[in-house]
Amino acid sequence: MREVGIGIAGFGVVGGGVLSILRKHAGDIEARLGARIVVRRIALRDPEKGRPLDVDRALLTTRLEDLVEDPEIAVVVELIGGVDQAFDLVRSALERGKHVVTANKALLAARGEEIFRLAREKGVDVYYEAAVCGGVPIIRTLREALASDRINALHGIVNGTTNFILTAMAERGEPIETALAEAQRLGYAEADPTLDVSGGDAAQKLCVLAQLAFGARIRPQDVLTEGIMSLKPEDFRWAREFGYALKLLAVARRTSSNGGPDQLEARVHPAFIPAGSLLAGVRGAMNAVVLQSEALGPSMLYGQGAGAMPTGSAVVSDIIDLTRNILAGSPGRVPLPPAKPLVGLRPHDEVRC
Ligand code: HSE
Repeated sequence: MREVGIGIAGFGVVGGGVLSILRKHAGDIEARLGARIVVRRIALRDPEKGRPLDVDRALLTTRLEDLVEDPEIAVVVELIGGVDQAFDLVRSALERGKHVVTANKALLAARGEEIFRLAREKGVDVYYEAAVCGGVPIIRTLREALASDRINALHGIVNGTTNFILTAMAERGEPIETALAEAQRLGYAEADPTLDVSGGDAAQKLCVLAQLAFGARIRPQDVLTEGIMSLKPEDFRWAREFGYALKLLAVARRTSSNGGPDQLEARVHPAFIPAGSLLAGVRGAMNAVVLQSEALGPSMLYGQGAGAMPTGSAVVSDIIDLTRNILAGSPGRVPLPPAKPLVGLRPHDEVRC
């Protein structure tokens, strides 16, 4: 049976999920692909501390270069997070003609343009389904399922940690600290949870979505962003009394004035939404995104946006897709065209969801 080698960089919550899915579903994956996906190296900071118990020690390395330099590795899976080191790794992998799978929205929001340009030049591809909404296939939906359509707006809950916290505050009256500690314990929160509660993580995800949905290049600093730390228990009581729920929403929509060129409004903030709406029923660490497109009309994706197995499943699906392309001798998907810089922002319009 043919084999395709992969190297995994970073072995935290998601890395563990990736490895267990590759093992647990190995039979199904092999049957679907007619090939075997083989983990050739795992790079991690401290092999003693983070070492998965049942992984062959010979696979482990502390050097990211070992993945990039290994001719047997066709796909580098970047799960180290952060921007600078991850960028260096992805750049060297692409320069050597390796495909990349990443779950790193911070990297894509900050340096996606350079990464996609390099991938186009090298004829390889970058897959990143896990970067937004964990296991929910929002990237493929925007990129493939709705390729024929024109998306005018999207809004949704794209951060599981804050939705978990807001649910606990609304339903159990918990203080924000208790709910955050629990979200961290369950592995939903970022290494630095400030990114979650400040809305920064959602803003990064919105940048990634905007590129796919609108072909627009926006950076997190272009997104009007307000977090959840100032919310108080009475805010939830008021919301309930008037028939609303309180959710952290990410919103992006095309706007244009006087028939002029499209502008994009992009924002992340807590919002009152009708208690009977579908988004109001999204509880715990679940994510949901509502799309408004011209041909399909409204549609919604819903599912687990964080955690080892949901996010790991998105990473493994990307690896499978890439493996299929590699085996077919195809350089991969047709690369995305370069995104356009924004014509302008209108971040202060009223929320219309
Ligand atoms: N901290 C993120 C969240 C993880 O809570 O949604 C998934 O991106």
